[in-house]
This record gives sequence, structure tokens and C-alpha cells, in this order.
Amino acid sequence: MTAQKRGLARGLTNYGDMDFSLYLRRANAASMGYGGEILSKPVVGIADTGSGFNNCHRHVPELVEAVKRGVLSAGGLPIVFPTISLGETFLSPTSMMYRNLMSMDTEEMIRAQPMDAAVLIGGCDKTLPAQLMGAANADIPVISLITGPQLTGHSEGERLGACTDCRRFWGKFRAGEIDQDGINKIESRLVTTAGTCAVMGTASTMACITEALGMALPGTAAIPAVHADRLRAAEASGTQAVTLARAPEGERLCPGKIMTPASVENALRVLLSVGGSTNAIVHLTAVAGRLGIPIPLDKLNKLSDETPVLIDLKPTGDHYMEDLFKAGGLGVVLRELKPLLNLDCMTVTGQTLGERLEGEPAYVDRAVVRSMDDPIQPMGGLVALFGSLAPNGAILKRSAADPSLFESEGRAVVFSSLEDLAARVDDPDLDIQANDVMVLQNAGPKSAAAMPEAGYLPIPKKLARAGLKDMVRISDARMSGTAYGTVVLHTAPEAAAGGPLAVVRNGDMITLDVAARRLHLHVDDAELAARLKEWQAPEPPLSSGYWRLYVDHVLQADRGADFDFLVGQRGAFVPKDNH
Ligand code: FES
Repeated sequence: MTAQKRGLARGLTNYGDMDFSLYLRRANAASMGYGGEILSKPVVGIADTGSGFNNCHRHVPELVEAVKRGVLSAGGLPIVFPTISLGETFLSPTSMMYRNLMSMDTEEMIRAQPMDAAVLIGGCDKTLPAQLMGAANADIPVISLITGPQLTGHSEGERLGACTDCRRFWGKFRAGEIDQDGINKIESRLVTTAGTCAVMGTASTMACITEALGMALPGTAAIPAVHADRLRAAEASGTQAVTLARAPEGERLCPGKIMTPASVENALRVLLSVGGSTNAIVHLTAVAGRLGIPIPLDKLNKLSDETPVLIDLKPTGDHYMEDLFKAGGLGVVLRELKPLLNLDCMTVTGQTLGERLEGEPAYVDRAVVRSMDDPIQPMGGLVALFGSLAPNGAILKRSAADPSLFESEGRAVVFSSLEDLAARVDDPDLDIQANDVMVLQNAGPKSAAAMPEAGYLPIPKKLARAGLKDMVRISDARMSGTAYGTVVLHTAPEAAAGGPLAVVRNGDMITLDVAARRLHLHVDDAELAARLKEWQAPEPPLSSGYWRLYVDHVLQADRGADFDFLVGQRGAFVPKDNH
């Protein structure tokens, strides 16, 4: 018997007799009811991320069936395998802590199991980045199948979508504008279908980035989760995976040929032009980092200065993802951005981005997607800030912030942790005014909170009830892509790693100067050094298991909060041929 390197014969367990290894594997596969002929077909692995703890992936079983259909119709053998699924609101302390774990799970299962190509089904915030990180170094072709966004709901004539409207109504409730009955009634109207959050939050931003990178089929980022086109996209992903799996050894279109410095730059342009989530810069940095492609924050600023915001979606605009789908999808945005894009980048279809854009339909709804000559904003949605408070950078989503606060100076009101924030923020005796700067410490990657989406600090009730809607807030945390406000995030180094943020005290003056990209703490160098000398690192809440691995190896936000031992590993893990 001659061992083959394709299909089930890939990566055999070595018992010292490779022919026996293949025989044993086929015997076990036969126990699942496969006939002999189908076991010789190209194998397409399908990563199933359905989970009862992930409402955004409720429809994944249907997508899996559609992918299988596509694989079978193209003459391949679909084999479904489970991976970790991360449902954003069901994880403690935060889904972010488990993104790297999911990426490792995905990477190792692609590598360890015998498949010639893979379709990875992802959508909820951390799942697409985890899968792209995991796929980065795969030596087989990979196609991302995006789960798609939710449809909007309605209440008393008002259109609602998760979760910008969740925050808007909660803000009204805190300000006393609606009562307990009112907020209870809205609860069941905010998330009414399967799929990811309905606005340009992190999941939708990552969907757009995935398509812009060339890792998903064209036109698939914005298709609603429950639309029949989503099932057709799943079927087509399965069919295309078989085509890619059949390519000769050495010519296969693996992720490293698609995710390149040029396509990463395209993805950054798209992130900026869609007014995308701040989280996405961390995720894209981590994905690119796996391939040894750095994204310095000053590069983000340069691209941000040149790339206009073109789409009018919440949380910064008026529309929802289903409107982007009807307006023409991401292809329209890419067509507008064409002069700024690297058009030679390869995509999973085997076409370059430029070839893809040749075939884009002409239709566009200008209420949703604007032209380069008439943008929503002339510059990109995100900006990196540097200064004595953030030596390695911090991020502000300027498209979601109040421009009247862009040049401001205020007194720090410091909360040492999320527990401290929860205990004191609504204290009527809290010494705080509208022009103060709220500072949250110990909510970064290495903290016990593990970088939650807590940077959108609640406006203290006494100020909210007086009508205040926004104020400057600074932390090392993240912010939901569905949130808005003058919120400085991802401050690096973080407080738990001994960054200057750790030693800010009540009453210190802080300057935010967006035009100058500056975030300055008015404490002189000698005093800052003395404070840092006294500072003691907080204890992690657990000292064993995954938590230990996480705390010991997680990098700062400007490095994508990836694990240090996974960055720049391109090619390091390609398994030796054991045939
Ligand atoms: Fe899953 Fe928002 S909760 S995308």
C-alpha cells in the first residue's frame, strides 16, 4: 500500500509503520459509515462554532449543512469538527481573555487533523480574529465563512439594533428618562434574530476586514445571518474550498499568500473607512503579528489622515448592517477606496482584489455609502495618541467622540479598578465635574479584569441626570464597537504592567490634544519616577492553569494582546512530512 499525502492520509499518527497507520485510520473512519470511495476524496474540514452560549451563532448548524452541500457537490468529503466558541456576553472575566485560546485551538486542530482545506465559521466579536490568527500559518487553504449580522427589531415604531441601542436605552434609564417597566419592555426587542450585532461594532468590522483581507468570498461580509444569500455563501464557500484543496502541492492558496503586508494595509484602510471598532486594531495587529507583519500605531495615524469615513452606520451614523447589505455591501466601499488599495492582493477565489472589483455591480445607495468626493468625514475613524500618559500609544475613536472635547484639559478623577468604579461612580458625594477626566486603572490585558469592554465608563448619575452626555474617559480597557463617546482606550503600557497610568492620582491634570495626537499627564519626570518606584504589581487572581499562561505571556494592546510565543511564527510549525 502506498501512503498518500492528501485527504485522510495527511499527518498520520506514527506507530512506526505508516501503512498500518493509514489502514487503522481508514478502519476507524469506516466505523462512521463512510464507504471506501468517499474516503479518497479531498477532505474539507468545517469548524463548527455553534454553542448554546453564543446567541450570535444560533444558526451555525444551518450554515454547516450548507457548506457540506457545497463540498459534496464539488466532489469533496466534508468533515465537521468543533472548536471553542466565544459568545461575547457569556464569558467571564471577558471573551478577550479566551481569543488567544480559541486561536490556538483552531490552529492546532487545522494542523493536527487530516484535511486539505478548511472552512472556518465565525462571527461574534472574538471568533473571526481568533480564527484568522489560527489560520495565519496553516499550510492548507482556509476560507472564512462569516455568520452575518442580525436584522433590526422594532419597538413602538422605533427601529432597534444591538447593541448601540442597548447602550442608548440604558443611558436613558440611568438618566431617569425611562423607568424600570420601559427598560424591561425594550429588553426583548433589542436582539431579535440570529447573527452578530446589527451595527458597525467589532463583529461587523472584523467581517469587513476579513473580506478586505481576501479571506472570505466577495460580498459576504454584510449578508444578514438569516438571509438565504447567507446559506448560498456557505454553500459556495464549501465548493470553493474543494477547488482550493485540489491545487497541486506547492501551489495551494494558503493564508500566508493572502494575508500579506499589502492586504493588511487594505484591511486597515477598510477599518478606517467604515468607522470601525477600536477593538479591530488590536485584533488586526494580532492577526498580522502571527505572520510577522507589524502595524505600528503611527502607521495607523498616517493611513487615518488619508482615508475618509464613507459609510453611515451606527454607532456613529444612522444605519444598520442590513442597510449596508442592501446598499451594495462591502464591495461598494472597496470600489470607492480603489485608488488607495493594493489591487494585486490575492483572495480565496483565486482572483486578485483588482480583478474582483472589475466585476462589482454599479448599484449603490448613497444614503449609506458615500463617495470619496463626499465622505461622512474626511479622515479615518480611529486615531492613536502618544505622550507621557501613553508612551506606547492609546486609541481614540474620533468618529464616535464629541469634537468639542478634542482639545481639553481636566482634573483626573481616578478609579483604581472596575470594582472601585462600580462602588463609587454613582456616589452623590463623588468629587467630579463635567470637565474632569475620568481615569480607570487596572483594566488592561494583564489585569485581573483581562481587558474587558469597560472603557466606556458610565457618566456618574448626578452628571447624567443634569443632562451630561459625554466627558473625557481614559483607561487601559477596551470599548465595545457598538459604543460611543470621548473614550481613550488601550493605554500602553497598561497600569497592571507598571505604565504611567498606574500612578495617576486624583487631581493630576491631563491634556487631551487630538490634533497633536497627544495624551499628556502633567506630572514632572522626577515625581513620576518616584511614584513608579513605589508602585507594586497586582497579584493575578489565579496562579495556575490557563490564567497563568495568559498573564505570563500576554502582550500589550499595541502588540495585539497576543501571546509572545505566538507572534511572528510564520513557517515555524509546518509539520514534517512523515510519509
Ligand atoms: Fe456577538 Fe455582538 S454579542 S457580535
